Amino acid sequence: MCYSHAVKPLHEARQPMPLVDPDYVDDGALREQDRVDLEDFLSDMDRAELGERGVAFFSGRETEITAFRRIVNRLSRGRQGNATIVVEGPPGAGKSALLAQFQEEISGLPPTESGQREWLPVFLPANFAEAPKEIARAIDRAISVRLADRILRGAAQPAPGLAARFQAAMGPKAGIKNVKEAARKLAGRGGGAFGMSIGPSPQEPIASLGDAVARRAEHWSEWQIVLLIDEAQQISDQRPGDVSGTLSSIHQGGVPAPISFCSFGLPGTWAALEGVNVSRSLGGADLRVATLDESAARKAVNRCFEAFEVRNAEAWQQAIVERSANWPQHLATYLVSAMAQIRRQSAGKQHLDASAASLAAAMAIGDEGRNGYYARRFERLTRGNGHFQAYAETVVMLFRKSGGQLSWNEIKAALQEHDRSVGNDEVNRFTTMAEHSGLMRRDPSTPTYQMPIPSFAGYLLNEPLPEVAEPDYLADEDPCRDGEGGLSAQDIEL
Ligand SMILES: Nc1ncnc2c1ncn2[C@@H]1O[C@H](COP(=O)(O)OP(=O)(O)OP(=O)(O)O)[C@@H](O)[C@H]1O
Ligand SMILES: [Mg+2]
Repeated sequence: MCYSHAVKPLHEARQPMPLVDPDYVDDGALREQDRVDLEDFLSDMDRAELGERGVAFFSGRETEITAFRRIVNRLSRGRQGNATIVVEGPPGAGKSALLAQFQEEISGLPPTESGQREWLPVFLPANFAEAPKEIARAIDRAISVRLADRILRGAAQPAPGLAARFQAAMGPKAGIKNVKEAARKLAGRGGGAFGMSIGPSPQEPIASLGDAVARRAEHWSEWQIVLLIDEAQQISDQRPGDVSGTLSSIHQGGVPAPISFCSFGLPGTWAALEGVNVSRSLGGADLRVATLDESAARKAVNRCFEAFEVRNAEAWQQAIVERSANWPQHLATYLVSAMAQIRRQSAGKQHLDASAASLAAAMAIGDEGRNGYYARRFERLTRGNGHFQAYAETVVMLFRKSGGQLSWNEIKAALQEHDRSVGNDEVNRFTTMAEHSGLMRRDPSTPTYQMPIPSFAGYLLNEPLPEVAEPDYLADEDPCRDGEGGLSAQDIEL
């Protein structure tokens, strides 16, 4: 009998020590995700890129990460079911960044408590969420990549002779990329190659995820699998290859393999999940992301300037925090425009120097990016219905008057002021689109609507942004810098 199945003393079973400290905050230092190349940072623009790492300067979201770690601890003790995590938030709130952070967390976890299983994050496109065959393929592929990685690193062999056979087949000069690619292809093609048999055969009939698991018991049993699904508002079971109830069986712990899933999507994600019978009442974590705490926003900005070793940055950091109003998308936009300006104006210098660039110019470029983001959101809202623009303007004015909260009935009354014939269906279409586009957010606990994105109202009402003054660099961080208003080397000579 293995340890995990042994009967434990009652007190131990009741108060198990957490395997992962749910409240630990590492500010990215542990995994060095801030070590990003400036060119890469600028080329990612202001979207969270899903790759092998968490996004640089990720800050805050302690509540969400704590909820994630609590579930990790449960899974680690061999509990299945009730482990589903659902994250909903408006566009630009940082859902994909949080997904990447969960992936980063998973990659750093110790094996499960019994030591039997290693954690395996698996990206799953939302349109495959109910397709057992695609889920099986995605998992096989992730395992193959991990095995190939292990093989190349010369770590423990997954099966006797496997690493040697794989390496021999790849040739002595194969780089990690090629080996991973070969593993991906192998998993995709299925069948046997190099004497390995990971992955489905192309004709494999799969009636359920349980079927797929049954065929892979040997390969999957050593992994604690977490499916990471982005854009989860698109989940449905109406596509070819879908088998209704697939996610629901994972959610309920009904699949005989250690699999759970996290979904990240726009408001409406829960409705999509309920449409495939994933019920809210079963537990797990139901999370909503919106603005960051101010301290988290400040941390993100400070970490960015520190990572790129920018001098004379204080006023810039303050301006970015204020201008982005703690909204993740805006933070990223202003950070990118600031770094791009500072890099350009620091050409030829040994260090990036903010005092060489114009803060007002950088913020003006950031403002353009921010307005572009709002224009896209607004375009999405008004695309399908010619009346929605006028509705939005009416509702935004009303939000201003009411102190920021409106009930569904108040919204309906506002739309009827605009057009007497507006009925409930039209109000619902509008509120749904307004939620998807980030204009409004429904708080189910009150229940009222609010505007989740700071300054979206100001944009729609054409309110000017505060002027940006060029900083006074008298209190110079770099005493050796020459220039207007700064201290010269002579000034500080005693
Ligand atoms: N917690 C955070 N700390 C620092 N930066 C963040 C954080 N969350 C998000 N960001 C940054 O904000 C930007 C937008 O985030 P992200 O792409 O994750 O938003 P999203 O909610 O997935 O948007 P969409 O709905 O459009 O997909 C990214 O550049 C990301 O790096
Ligand atoms: Mg996203």
